[in-house]
Amino acid sequence: MPWISLMALSELVENIPRSVRVSGKKLLVLRQGDRVYAMEDRCTHEDNPLVDGAVSAGKIACPRHGALFDLASGAALTPPAYEAVNVYPVTVEKDVVQIDVTKETGYGS
Ligand code: FES
Repeated sequence: MPWISLMALSELVENIPRSVRVSGKKLLVLRQGDRVYAMEDRCTHEDNPLVDGAVSAGKIACPRHGALFDLASGAALTPPAYEAVNVYPVTVEKDVVQIDVTKETGYGS
């Protein structure tokens, strides 16, 4: 699997999304407890960035019109978004957060 190292786990503050660029993709990375999520930083309603959205357990809200997305699956949970956001597998090896951007699911798939 083509894992790409992003950052040390300690650089991710719990519940504070971080914007990153990986292989030309604009993503957000978010830590909640022992879990790290990665998703495309683009709402499927009107393409607004999600990185400044309100975070709750397993979810992030688009800051523009409030659509709620599931961090694990990318699924749109509430209108006005109806399509999922791409999400990517993340692993933590020796305190380094790694992502595989070849395995996206969600938007457009
Ligand atoms: S742009 Fe995200 S809900 Fe409208």
